[in-house]
Amino acid sequence: MKDIRKVVIPVAGWGTRSLPATKNIPKEMLPIYNKPVIQYVVEEAQRAKIKDVIFVTNRDKSVIEDHFDYNLQLESVLERGGKLDKLEEVRRVAEMVNVMSVRQKKQLGLGHAVMCARDLIRDDPFAIMVGDDLMFGGVPGIGQLIEVAMSEKMPVVGVMEVPWEKVSKYGIIDGEEVSPGVYRVKDMVEKPAREDAPSRLAIVGRYVLTPDIFDYLEKVKPGKGGEIQLTDAMQALARDKGMMAVRMSGMRFDAGDWAEFLTANIYFALQDEDLRYELLGMLKNFVQFN
Ligand code: UTP
Repeated sequence: MKDIRKVVIPVAGWGTRSLPATKNIPKEMLPIYNKPVIQYVVEEAQRAKIKDVIFVTNRDKSVIEDHFDYNLQLESVLERGGKLDKLEEVRRVAEMVNVMSVRQKKQLGLGHAVMCARDLIRDDPFAIMVGDDLMFGGVPGIGQLIEVAMSEKMPVVGVMEVPWEKVSKYGIIDGEEVSPGVYRVKDMVEKPAREDAPSRLAIVGRYVLTPDIFDYLEKVKPGKGGEIQLTDAMQALARDKGMMAVRMSGMRFDAGDWAEFLTANIYFALQDEDLRYELLGMLKNFVQFN
């Protein structure tokens, strides 16, 4: 398999779970401690040596592309004010990756969003990282998948074990474990009832796919709410050509879920030595820690 140089990051959803915060601000721009959600996702791609980022956006999301561009006016203010560490930080964000973007004109689901990037991907294998799914740990999440895609020469999907009561919220795989944490996918099912779920290995927002996925996506029939599900196309691809799954190590936060979003904020704030003790002191005022 050729090197993975491009990642598609869909960010065109409505973010309805996060309203009213997301009425005019994209969910992906909400801050986790001192950075917007999307910056953590792009940093993960960068750590996995991916240079080209394709955002699938909508008309209200240009601020996401702007975040990864220079802001010359701000830079000159910082320079004149002698705030050189901040200047370096904002420039670093602008220089992290090459940014391309494509519009998803109707929000017809994750599968449809990925389809929108077809002409920018062309014939190369590529990664997909869901723009509101945060992964942290040693090896960058998407890097764990790339490693297996390269060695197995097959598409790979990231999975994590979820509690049985949550399987109905995810795509779930049926897989045979071929080495610790690596599965050959036999089948996958989107949002199964608990009693129909083949396992509790849930597909999380990281994928490495081959461009033949687009042919399968074209054939997917819209499901609930007219949405074109990526899982449906991957299921057909897995059956015809094979697919692997990697049980991802590290932590995951779904930024569209308030409890996880807020936990991620506290987690990152606690990593900052300057803030840690002040924050813990304040939290102790209204939380009883055991
Ligand atoms: P979600 O279902 O988590 O996001 O999609 P959403 O639709 O924005 O949020 P809720 O459920 O209404 O709160 C996962 C990712 O896929 C993108 C979203 O932007 C999000 O990053 N997405 C989803 C698209 O790009 N296009 C779509 O049509 C749907």
